[in-house]
This record gives sequence, C-alpha cells and structure tokens, in this order.
Amino acid sequence: MENLNKPSLKLARKRSKKTVEIIRYNNDKSIKNLGLGKKYLIQTHGCQANEIDSEILRAMIEEQGYQRTDKVEEASLILINTCAVREGAENKVFGELGRLKSFKKINPDLILVVSGCMSQEETTVERILNKYKHVDIVIGTHNLDKFIYYLDKFMKEKKQIIEVLSEEGKIVENLPHARENRFKAWVNIMYGCDEFCTYCIVPYTRGKERSRGKEYIISEVQELVRKGYQEVTLIGQNVNSYGLDFSDGDYTFPDLLRDLSKLDIPRIRFTTSHPKDFSDELINVISECDNIMPYIHLPVQSGSNKVLNKMNRKYTKEQYLDLVDRIYKKIPEVSITTDIIVGFPTETEEDFEETIDLVRKAKFEGAYTFVYSKRKGTPAALYEETVTKEEAKDRLHRLNKLINEGYLRGNQRFEGKVVQVLVEGYSKTNKNVLSGYTENNKLVNLSIDQKMIGKIVPVKITKAKTWSLDGEYFPG
Ligand code: SAH
Ligand code: SF4
Ligand code: F3S
Repeated sequence: MENLNKPSLKLARKRSKKTVEIIRYNNDKSIKNLGLGKKYLIQTHGCQANEIDSEILRAMIEEQGYQRTDKVEEASLILINTCAVREGAENKVFGELGRLKSFKKINPDLILVVSGCMSQEETTVERILNKYKHVDIVIGTHNLDKFIYYLDKFMKEKKQIIEVLSEEGKIVENLPHARENRFKAWVNIMYGCDEFCTYCIVPYTRGKERSRGKEYIISEVQELVRKGYQEVTLIGQNVNSYGLDFSDGDYTFPDLLRDLSKLDIPRIRFTTSHPKDFSDELINVISECDNIMPYIHLPVQSGSNKVLNKMNRKYTKEQYLDLVDRIYKKIPEVSITTDIIVGFPTETEEDFEETIDLVRKAKFEGAYTFVYSKRKGTPAALYEETVTKEEAKDRLHRLNKLINEGYLRGNQRFEGKVVQVLVEGYSKTNKNVLSGYTENNKLVNLSIDQKMIGKIVPVKITKAKTWSLDGEYFPG
C-alpha cells in the first residue's frame, strides 16, 4: 500500500526538543502543465491558517496552468481545505463530499482532494476509506508543499492517495503565494500550538509550535510593502509565544513587532493572542507604534476559574481582568474582542454567570461564541458531558445578547468622529456603496469614488449600527 500514510493522534501529541528543520520549497520543474486548459476550485473552511494554506495551494495549482472557477460543474480539480475545530465544521465537509459524488458521475475525470485539519484525524481518514471512496487525494497540513507531486502521481496511477504525516513538522520557506486581497495580507509568523487546551484539536492537527525566523518574516513584509500592501496581519495560534522556541530565546513577539513597525507598512495587526503570554512589553509596543492597530483579539473562553482550570488555560478570571485593565490604561482607544465556549463539561449555571460577569467587566466590543464540541483524542473528550444541548443553546443565546450590546456600544463610541478607513471595495450587501475597516477593525459603509479603493482615507462616522458604521468621506 505505497499510497497510504494514515494519521495518528497519538504521534501528533508528542513534543520533542529537537531543532525544527527549515527547508526550501522544492519546485519540481519536471512536473508541468498538469492543468492546461482546465479549471480548479478551492473551498476553504476554518481559520486564517487555512486561508493562508489555500493561497499557497492556489499558487501551486495555477503554476500548473489551471484557471480558477467558482462553478463546481466547470472544475476538473476540487480541493476542500478543511477545519476540525468543531463537529459542525466537519459535518459541513462530509455533506459537501456527499454532494460532490454526483458531480464525479457526470465528470469522471474530476479530481477531488481533501486537505487541512480534518485530514490529520484518524476518524476522517477511516470514514473516507470506508464511505467516501470517490475522494482521490487526502493530504495533511505538514506536507502541503508536496501537493503537486501527489497530483501528478494520482494522474499517472489513478489510485487513491492518503498522505498524512503526524510528526512534528518542518518549516517550509519560499512557498509561492497567490494572495486573495490586493491591500491586506496575512503573514504566518509561527505554526502549530503547544498549549493543549483540553477541548482543542489544533495542537494535534497543526503539530509542534514552530516560529519562523525573523529574517523570513521581515523580508515577506518588505516584499508586500513593495507591492503596495496597506495592511499585514501576523498569524499564529498563539502569537505572544513567538520566538520562545528559538534556542537563544531572546527575540520575542514585541521585538518582532518593533522591527516590523519600522517598515513602511501603514497597518499591522496580529491574531491570536493567548492571555497568559501577553506581556507589559507587548502592551507598550502596541501603544508606542502608530502603525500597530488598536485592536486586540484576546480569547478568554470562560469566566469561571474552575472551568478555566479544567480547560488548561493557565490564567484566572482575575488575572484576565487585570490584563484587560492594564491594556485599557495604556491604550485607551483600543477595541478588545474575544472567543467564548459555553457548555464545557462541568459548567454549571453559576460558572456561566461568572462568564457573563466577566463579559460585562471586560467591555468586549465583539466575540465569537461557541457551544462546546467534543473532539475525539483531546483530554476533554473523556470528561463527562454534564450540560444538555438545550442548556448550552440557552446559555449561548443569553451570552450573544450581551455580546451584541458590546458590538453596538463599540460602534457607537465612534459616532460623529473622524476615523481612518482602508477602503476595500464594494459592500457585500449593497453594490452601490464601498466599504472598509477602521483602525479598530470596525466595518464602515460609505459612498466614495471607487478610485479610493486600496487607500486609507479620513471618514466621518454618521451612524452606528450593531454590525457596521455609516460614514462620509471627510477630506481636510
Ligand atoms: N489559537 C486560537 C484559536 C483556536 S480555535 C486561540 O487559542 O485563541 C478558535 C476558537 O474555537 C477558540 O478560541 C475556541 O473558542 C473555539 N474552540 C476550539 N475548540 C473548540 C471546541 N472543541 N468546541 C467549541 N469551540 C472550540
Ligand atoms: Fe487551541 Fe488553545 Fe492552542 Fe488556541 S491556544 S489553538 S485554543 S490549544
Ligand atoms: Fe480549524 Fe485547523 Fe484552523 S482545526 S480553526 S483550520 S488550525
């Protein structure tokens, strides 16, 4: 079975002190023109890590001559880049794979690929082997750079390929990149996660935490500046621990931010921050550098110390609120958003009330809220589920009401003010207006000449709604 490399969560859990290997992308020039005259489609689920991977896959696929399409019926290659973080995300993918089976009947040459975090799970691969035999290639997150090699192999041999690695992962530099946006770019600064929050599958699907060398990050951002990009968002599962895995250990995330802020890039953002590593030094850097945006996504997950402890989050409600306090003191204009899980095993009504209390005190201006979803292979999957679906839904509903008040309050504080907006293009909901984001990451709709697309312009906010602001161009 030469084409079968199955994942193992047990292996994926291991962490060693071995130095991370850095390799250059090996663009095998002997494989060419696989997609001449053909079209491809990529469907991306999950977080920015997956968005970046899709941009890389896109570039590799287009180098083979494939052209992009949005129509399933036109595509000769369909790649689903999957997310495993919650069951709902997985069900969507299996539904999609079921639907695509009929397209394979119409077009037998259609090649169907599954990549991303679900590929790293034993359960997914078993299910594909047993029930979704029409999936041609399953590739994991650690060997994405070899995709064209597997595509070529499949075209020659026409035998299902399962190629998933569960070792800790290397860093591949020099990857090609077809970016989705002309003004805003995502830049990976690290891969993997070593936090092992007890509910979370990411440390298993993305492997050991590996920071990219600063020289690679800086030169990527320099290149983006040359191309006219206005904004970069630095991406990692826990950006605050950037550099802690380097053997000398003295170049940290605040150092990286300081170095990047000296480049001619108007806006720098980053996500995601783990509260436990958010240092005063980091707060200082954000407050001192004008091009680091006053917007922080700071997942708290719960307000109950008992639940936080069971989640292995390594901070208490009091420590989190103290951190938020220090941030507001140093960066008064900041907007803070968060992630919250309700219905975690053992969460009682009192625990949930603690979360509500924290949300009130932390003055969040937005949040992603989730019902806990059991992930096989994680420690929490062994905890007894004590919260019923109905209770969890009810808590989510009550929480969201409060969160939505925060969205509105966060928007209202800009009414009548002049803010800087990076104009991105036509609004998704109204083709007659343009839209963009403020420094605080608030969505603004405005009527303005389309020449301004890609520019940062002053805008006076005329009206605040829950999900967006209305504004007018306000030169001079
Ligand atoms: N690394 C980031 C985000 C990881 S996933 C961080 O630590 O913040 C994004 C969010 O999904 C998490 O913050 C968490 O709120 C949610 N999440 C992760 N696993 C989950 C699970 N098993 N059930 C429900 N929500 C989950
Ligand atoms: Fe998951 Fe926790 Fe890592 Fe975030 S920090 S990716 S929630 S294990
Ligand atoms: Fe999902 Fe993987 Fe991101 S599980 S949230 S796509 S790291």
